[in-house]
Amino acid sequence: MRKIAVIGTGYVGLVTGTCLASLGHEVTCVDIDEKRIASLQDGHCPLHEPGLSPLMQSNILDKRLHFTTVLQEAVQRAEAIFIAVGTPENEDGSADLSYVKNAAENLSLYMNDGTLVILKSTVPPGTNQAVHSWMQAISGRTFHVVSNPEFLREGSALHDFFYGDRIVIGHSDAEAGQMLVEIYSKMKTPILQTDPLSAEMIKYASNAFLATKISFINEISSLTEKVGADIEQVAQGMGMDRRIGEQFLRAGIGFGGSCFPKDTKALIEVAKEAGHPFRLLSAVIDVNDRQKNLLIEKALNRYGCLKGKRVAVLGLAFKPNTDDIRESPALSLIKRLQELEADPIGYDPVVKSIPLCPVSDSIHEVLTGADFAMICTDWPSISDLPLDVYENTMKEPVLFDGRNCYPQEAFQGRNIEYHSIGRRSYKGLE
Ligand code: UDX
Repeated sequence: MRKIAVIGTGYVGLVTGTCLASLGHEVTCVDIDEKRIASLQDGHCPLHEPGLSPLMQSNILDKRLHFTTVLQEAVQRAEAIFIAVGTPENEDGSADLSYVKNAAENLSLYMNDGTLVILKSTVPPGTNQAVHSWMQAISGRTFHVVSNPEFLREGSALHDFFYGDRIVIGHSDAEAGQMLVEIYSKMKTPILQTDPLSAEMIKYASNAFLATKISFINEISSLTEKVGADIEQVAQGMGMDRRIGEQFLRAGIGFGGSCFPKDTKALIEVAKEAGHPFRLLSAVIDVNDRQKNLLIEKALNRYGCLKGKRVAVLGLAFKPNTDDIRESPALSLIKRLQELEADPIGYDPVVKSIPLCPVSDSIHEVLTGADFAMICTDWPSISDLPLDVYENTMKEPVLFDGRNCYPQEAFQGRNIEYHSIGRRSYKGLE
């Protein structure tokens, strides 16, 4: 078992640190945010991530998981140091590496000889080498930098850590690679060892491919709507082909979150710089931007003008099982509704407030008196909501469903107007 430091207690750092402690390592998580660290030391988990809070608490009790703001303390005793700080978007879409650089330089001041530095943050190809150079300029110690990208989905991050499809270890020194293999030795996940540049590319290419799959099915959904086919049936039939696979074929109002929008833009910048513009990926982003406006277009087609309409926006998180609203399609929809002088009110089971409009955790309250409702996130509390509730609470039961939560058949014989993605609209009882 190793003594490990994890720098950064954001989503990736906290999940990684907690899971490494569960594998039996002694982990110290470091962050400069004093309030966050104090609250973590008390066992409070700052994220809505299923299973994370109890796992964190049990590791704290077993004294395998510690939190500190003192980098020196954590780094001096560490044999392996994970860098898991953020790589936000620069104005031009490229990745901002200043937090990575800062972490690398600071840990260089205190680390021991032979330390293994593991780059977890999502970074453009070439960053492993850059980190090495930044550290070498400061430290006289011997050390290795290996790249070990994460593939954690919010909402199922613990499952993805322990039962992921692969662990990628990019290294230029077999011994350094082997040390990380041993850190993960309790896990049964297949390990792929690559060179560092390829490991960095695997992460970007994987996210770009998944984003492409979503934009592809969204484009198909616009077509199925035009020709009168049903996207759910089409996606099912496509997904049964194992070469295509059934996952990430859910048409909707576009991808959001902290990764896909940012990483696709960053890869476009990488491609531009490399002299090979990534035209396909630019189209993926265009399609996604248009998709985010789709429910508004449908409502405008239906009503002509949305001024003064009270709109129940159901679901604010960018997807279910998270309280994350970063790049959430719901937020751009609410902004657009406000530009059109409509009056949106949000419902979400875990997001308590947003800067844009009032939010309630009672779906009944939000639907009561609404002119129409728009589903943005397929939380079970939304997709399992009996249709009677729309009929009994709304001014007129008109539903725009951006996540195809309901089967079309459910509306037969009901007086609800239902518009969804890539399927025929149901106009209610005539
Ligand atoms: C993603 C990657 O899956 C993960 O491997 C990476 O490490 C981080 O980025 P995450 O952002 O948590 O994870 O969510 P994910 O489940 O991938 O969904 C991303 C977005 O795509 C969501 O907005 C989701 O609603 C949307 N989506 C996903 C679809 O619209 N249709 C689908 O079929 C799948």
